[in-house]
Amino acid sequence: MLKEKISKIEFIDLQAQRHALKHSIPGVLERVLEHGAFILGPEVKTLEEKLTAYTGAEETITCSDGTDALRLLLLAKQVGPGDAVFVPSFTFASTAEVIAQANATPVFIDVCPITFNMDLQSLEQAIKTLDKSLKPKGIIAVDLFGLPANYPAIHQLAEQHQLWVIADSAQSFGGGYQDKKVGNLATMTSTSFFPSKPLACYGDGGAIFTNDKELANVIRSLRNHGCGQHRYDHIHVGMNSRLDTMQAAILIEKLAIFPQERARREQIATLYRQELPDNLQLPSMMPDYTHAWGLYTVVCPEGVRDALMQHLQECHIPSNVYYRKPLHLQPAYQHYPRAAQQLAVTEKISQQVLSLPMHPYLSDEQVAYISQCVKSYFKA
Ligand SMILES: Cc1ncc(COP(=O)(O)O)c(C=O)c1O
Repeated sequence: MLKEKISKIEFIDLQAQRHALKHSIPGVLERVLEHGAFILGPEVKTLEEKLTAYTGAEETITCSDGTDALRLLLLAKQVGPGDAVFVPSFTFASTAEVIAQANATPVFIDVCPITFNMDLQSLEQAIKTLDKSLKPKGIIAVDLFGLPANYPAIHQLAEQHQLWVIADSAQSFGGGYQDKKVGNLATMTSTSFFPSKPLACYGDGGAIFTNDKELANVIRSLRNHGCGQHRYDHIHVGMNSRLDTMQAAILIEKLAIFPQERARREQIATLYRQELPDNLQLPSMMPDYTHAWGLYTVVCPEGVRDALMQHLQECHIPSNVYYRKPLHLQPAYQHYPRAAQQLAVTEKISQQVLSLPMHPYLSDEQVAYISQCVKSYFKA
């Protein structure tokens, strides 16, 4: 196949999506400009209702971003000094950052080599060997690259040890397990609407989902300076973490096309599975799980990733590595406890993972071209 026939391949194509929405977005932004309720305006409430209907969670609270969604949950759970919270090391910094900022202790857990999500044995080992000076409080599981973590098993373990569970679903909005969607898989869920996420706004945005009405009311107060019934009553020490009305208006439009976009991501993942060579470990298609395909991440054979990336670049194909250095080896986090001295799977796969272009506007021809270029690397 000739490269000349393929239009430019983007890693995530926000312009193609913008084009698809060009008739709706300007109008909804104009409406916000007209009514002028820029903070907690009517679109925020509408979006929360629509997100509740989509996810099946009983309560949705939008907020400034996915990091604040985690922060608000920790604030509501009163996490503080002396508390330990278990997190995978193979994740974005936010998952652990919010724990450290609460002056609590993140405890790093290894991941499963197939799903890239929290490994249950490593989690159990960390709980059992936790330093006696720390109080185990909760678990933040991450749905890495869009595949939900094993919440039934995580909740079971959490119950045995009286821990709460937060799903960091920043990368997995649209995913699910059996007949339930992300937002309704864990007792508390956070997500992000950062521009590159499966459901994304044109700036920062985030949300919290829960079935716990009381918790939802506390978080609604916390995101708005801890206010009570009246705006200038303060019943909690809160923060400012509200989703802008403009971003809510954009998200309402993007949510309307989200089911088709998610279905197209699934088709692209299936095409990749058919066409990529078996030199690569492809992402798992687990029975019962719905992958959100936030990222399409393969595991390369040892020692070939950088050369393959270079080859793809020469073929004008962008690729990225999430994450080159796991958190427990980062200068800011290396002094925190971990399940074992070495988090062997995390350390190994962080050297080998590679994310290929994944967005709903990739054509079949582009996926075939990407796959052919990967094949040509291994044939050379
Ligand atoms: C796993 C994970 N958690 C949390 C976040 C934080 O989201 P935000 O950028 O909206 O603060 C991200 C964002 O990339 C993420 O990937």
